[in-house]
Amino acid sequence: MEENRKVLYSGVQPTNNLTIGNYIGTIKSWRSLQEDYDCIFAVSNMHAITVRQEPAEFRRKTLSLAALFLACGVEPEKSIVYVQSHVPAHAELCWALNTFTYVGEMERMTQFKDKSAKHADNINMGLMDYPVLMAADILLYQTDVVPVGADQRQHLEIARDIAQRFNNVFTPTFKVPEGLFRKVGAKISDLQEPTKKMSKSAENPNGAVFLTDDRDTVIRKFKRAVTDSDAEIRYEPESKAGVSNLISIYSVFAEKSIEETEREFCGKGYGDFKLAVGELVADKLAPIQAERERLLKDKEYIESALKTGAERAAKIANRTLAKVYKKIGFYQL
Ligand code: TYM
Repeated sequence: MEENRKVLYSGVQPTNNLTIGNYIGTIKSWRSLQEDYDCIFAVSNMHAITVRQEPAEFRRKTLSLAALFLACGVEPEKSIVYVQSHVPAHAELCWALNTFTYVGEMERMTQFKDKSAKHADNINMGLMDYPVLMAADILLYQTDVVPVGADQRQHLEIARDIAQRFNNVFTPTFKVPEGLFRKVGAKISDLQEPTKKMSKSAENPNGAVFLTDDRDTVIRKFKRAVTDSDAEIRYEPESKAGVSNLISIYSVFAEKSIEETEREFCGKGYGDFKLAVGELVADKLAPIQAERERLLKDKEYIESALKTGAERAAKIANRTLAKVYKKIGFYQL
């Protein structure tokens, strides 16, 4: 890690299949962010157990997500890539931060309320504590910026509140992090229900494009995307949610502005536009899918990157944890 560079932290849960929402919202930008920041990228498997996982499948998904990070251009020589559970400091700081977090604020978290409704038979303490663990992730590394999708905004706010609260009770201990949200694509919507976010656990599988979908599936899903009856390719998220979502997706993958995309498809029909979006997305996903497959055949390489990553992460994390323990008055030997 270089002196004087800002620290960037982000994580993704190894649950279900990742969607192009996850990719666009954060992972896609990681490759270039590595040039400007000291980056730390986590496979957030401790967050994932707040919903029941099948153990063998869960292990496989953890490795597979690490391979995806690398396939998307994360370079283990430049950045730290690791699995959250390999660094015990996360659970330790989470416990301490729990005592600086109020039950009422956790109960008000949108994601907690949504997930409680979805998993009514398993509203466990971890589900409620999830934002505190996420705060611990971020604060352990004295993080400056956190690139995430819009759905994580509330969690980031609470991380900032907890940091400030601790800093006010003691002396400044944690850097107060800033969120980094994409101007276009911070919230990719479901293709079938464009007012909802595209989610890994979409009820209708046609609503979400998964990073593992093959070319035909990607194109078919875009062909079926819900639009409107107005037949004009214009960006207007309030009144034209479906079309605006497709414009965002196209713009991000084509690396064009919204206006450029509108101009490109001016006068064209929805059918042609949807096909163009589908083909572009399929073209862009293909090399990532191939590279991930290639990497997954070299488990040793991925594991060695994760091992080095965890060692480097633990070193930084333990430094912050030691400071915290000292400030709160834990007896030191
Ligand atoms: P997760 O695994 O749910 O999602 C990973 C990332 O994808 C973004 N995202 C989206 N962006 C745009 N449009 C969408 N439809 C969409 N759906 C998901 C999410 O905002 C996220 O950036 N709690 C985190 C993981 C985490 C974390 C952290 C992130 C754990 N610790 C510390 C940052 C810092 C989560 O569940 O993401």
